[in-house]
Amino acid sequence: MSSPTTRDAGSALGRRGLGRAEGSAASTIDRMTTPRHDIADPSLAAQGKLRIEWAERAMPVLAQIRERFAKERPFEGTRIAACMHVTTETANLMRALQAGGAELALCASNPLSTQDDTAAALVHEYGISVFARHGVDTDGYYAHINAALDIAPHQVFDDGCDLVNTLHTTRQELIEQVKGGCEETTTGVIRLRAMAADKALRFPMIAVNDTDTKHMFDNRYGTGQSTLDAIFRATNTLLAGKTLVVAGYGYCGKGVAERAKGMGASVVVTEIDPTKALDATMQGLRVMPMPEAARIGDVFVTVTGNRDVLRAEHFQVMKDGAIFANSGHFDIEIDVKWLEANALEVNRKIRHQTDEYVLADGRRLLLLAEGRLVNLGAAEGHPAAVMDMSFADQALTAEWLVTNAAELAPGVHDVPIEIDKEVARLKLAAMGVSIDSLTPEQAEYLSSWEHGS
Ligand SMILES: NC(=O)c1ccc[n+]([C@@H]2O[C@H](COP(=O)([O-])OP(=O)(O)OC[C@H]3O[C@@H](n4cnc5c(N)ncnc54)[C@H](O)[C@@H]3O)[C@@H](O)[C@H]2O)c1
Repeated sequence: MSSPTTRDAGSALGRRGLGRAEGSAASTIDRMTTPRHDIADPSLAAQGKLRIEWAERAMPVLAQIRERFAKERPFEGTRIAACMHVTTETANLMRALQAGGAELALCASNPLSTQDDTAAALVHEYGISVFARHGVDTDGYYAHINAALDIAPHQVFDDGCDLVNTLHTTRQELIEQVKGGCEETTTGVIRLRAMAADKALRFPMIAVNDTDTKHMFDNRYGTGQSTLDAIFRATNTLLAGKTLVVAGYGYCGKGVAERAKGMGASVVVTEIDPTKALDATMQGLRVMPMPEAARIGDVFVTVTGNRDVLRAEHFQVMKDGAIFANSGHFDIEIDVKWLEANALEVNRKIRHQTDEYVLADGRRLLLLAEGRLVNLGAAEGHPAAVMDMSFADQALTAEWLVTNAAELAPGVHDVPIEIDKEVARLKLAAMGVSIDSLTPEQAEYLSSWEHGS
């Protein structure tokens, strides 16, 4: 991807006067007020609205925040460009920000994660500007990011750092008015920290991924469940009795391993970090290097945030019928280029999001969702109940930024701990779970150094 091309592509979309001509959808938004957009199919709007409302039922914390935002209007006069997976859960985050008075432009953070019905509903039922089509190519993906940036944002929401990166490379003229933003995922935070270390990052970005209420739940339970869900939807394989190899035992990897173990798989972990590997070993999981694991695995999941985790030397020893999927942010963890170049035959889409690569010796290797985020490519992403917390973190952090961004230096910052605790408290309350509080004596004991044995 060269920067000028992507910039031009954005401008080209802009010149076409994005989407105002479409109008065939059964829509609650007046044709004159339909926002700028580029979506696949406006006729899906009604179905998308039903699914957005379904997700809303499992997002009580975000719903409460939306109600408060509607009264207090904290985002009045604030323009937000968001680059996120265009799913029903994201739609509910957009609705909360809209209720708070924000002017919004949403684009996708992955070419395969867009739910076209959700995109249609956001535009035609909720009047929110969306630039996202499922299966868009790389030029189209960056054209959409540029189209969202055309809103000239005061705040940015990113999931993987592609929007912030585009701002700092080809859209620098917009940076001056950006007050700050939020980053949703581990890979995005890593990229932002690299930008900050190079003194390249020009505004404050808040690492929403790093809150406890995000990574301990979304990365773990969300990725764990939805990754397996995607593998089942794509292949309908039986996990019980199979060997599942998970590469990376971070928050996401733990989630995948726990759920696979619970379904009767024999779980093997590969790691490069000794502490994580020790943790997996003490969880009763087998830990070994990938060259060994490659020989015995039936199903492989990469979730490291690193590149070339499954590559030629591993493909060459895998069993016939091995299934592999990536749940890390970018499509760099599985060396798909090697498969494309070396397979004798490629049978595309033999099932939903399943491509079969037949090697010279006749072995068939099955790649899911083209090596992109499998849980969003082949399933619906995380369940709404877990995104309720991640997006409550996003919404409250964005509100906090309205009044506090000016005090923050350019760089990567943590979410204030009060927001993290408030989201946990609200989620517990919504689940009907109560907890203890400290007695005055306990509070005093924990804050003093004088008590000993
Ligand atoms: N699929 C989703 O919906 C989803 C959700 C959240 C995060 N993510 C993405 O998943 C990835 C992992 O996120 P995380 O929060 O678990 O990160 P993490 O940092 O907690 O864990 C990553 C683990 O991978 C290990 N690792 C790195 N290189 C490796 C290699 N070559 N072989 C084996 N292990 C290796 C690291 O030591 C670490 O333990 C990131 O790209 C993140 O953005 C995806």
